[in-house]
Amino acid sequence: MRIILLGAPGAGKGTQAQFIMEKYGIPQISTGDMLRAAIKAGSPMGLEAKKVMDAGQLVSDDIIIGLVKERIAQEDCQGGFLLDGFPRTIPQADAMTENGIDVDHVIEFDVPDEEIVKRMSGRRVHPGSGRVYHVVFNPPKVEGKDDVTGEELVIRADDEETTVRKRLAVYHEQTKPLVDYYSAAAARGANQYHKMDGTQPVDAVSEQIGKLLG
Ligand code: AP5
Ligand code: ZN
Repeated sequence: MRIILLGAPGAGKGTQAQFIMEKYGIPQISTGDMLRAAIKAGSPMGLEAKKVMDAGQLVSDDIIIGLVKERIAQEDCQGGFLLDGFPRTIPQADAMTENGIDVDHVIEFDVPDEEIVKRMSGRRVHPGSGRVYHVVFNPPKVEGKDDVTGEELVIRADDEETTVRKRLAVYHEQTKPLVDYYSAAAARGANQYHKMDGTQPVDAVSEQIGKLLG
C-alpha cells in the first residue's frame, strides 16, 4: 500500500503516520524528519536546509526529490510506504509520476489555520523517532518524556508563532494546489482521494483512516 498524507503544517500528518505505520507495517517517509536528521548530523546539506526551514520556507525540489528517490529504492519500501510531507509542490508530484511511482491513497487533513497555531504552541517531539505529542491534546504518559524510550521531548525550532504563520502561507501558496492535482488524478482513477476533517480528536481521525484503508 502506498499512501500520501497531505495537509498544512500541524494538521496531524506525523501523528496519524504513527498510527498507520503501526497498524499496516509500512515505513513512514517524512521529508521533515529526514532533513532534521541531516541537520543533527551536521552534513553540508543539513546546514543549508536549516536556514531555509528556520525561515519557514521550502527546501529546493532537487534536494528533496533526490532524498525521496533514494529512500523509496530501499528494501523496506518495496512492500509500500507512507509519504508524510512529500510531495509539497507540483514539481515534486510530477517527479513521482516521471519516476513511475504511483500511489493508492491520498489522505488530506483539513484544519483551519487558527487551530493550527494553537496546536503548534503545545507540540513536543521525540527527536530520535519523530514521535509527536501535544501538552493538552495528546500528552505523553510522563510529562516531557517520550512514551517508548523515556528520553526528553523537545520543542521544534520552527514552531515559534511567526514561523508557523510563514509556513501556513507557504502551504496555501505552494502545497494546496496538490489538492486539485490529486483530486483530478482520482477522477481519472489514478488514486483514491480522501478528505478528512482533521479537527476531530486524534483517535477519531485514526479510526476513520482505519475504516477507509480497511
Ligand atoms: P515537516 O516536518 O514536514 O513539517 P510540516 O509539514 O510543516 O508539518 P508538521 O510536522 O509541522 O505537522 P504535522 O502535520 O506532521 O502535525 P503533527 O502530527 O506533528 O517539514 C518541516 C520543514 O522541512 C518545512 O517547513 C520545509 O522547510 C522542510 N520540508 C519538509 N518536507 C519538504 C518538502 N517535501 N519540500 C520542501 N521542503 C520540505 O501535529 C501537530 C501538533 O498537533 C502535535 O502537537 C500533535 O500532538 C497535535 N495534534 C495532531 N493531531 C491532532 C488532533 N486531531 N487534535 C488535536 N491535536 C492534534
Ligand atoms: Zn510532521
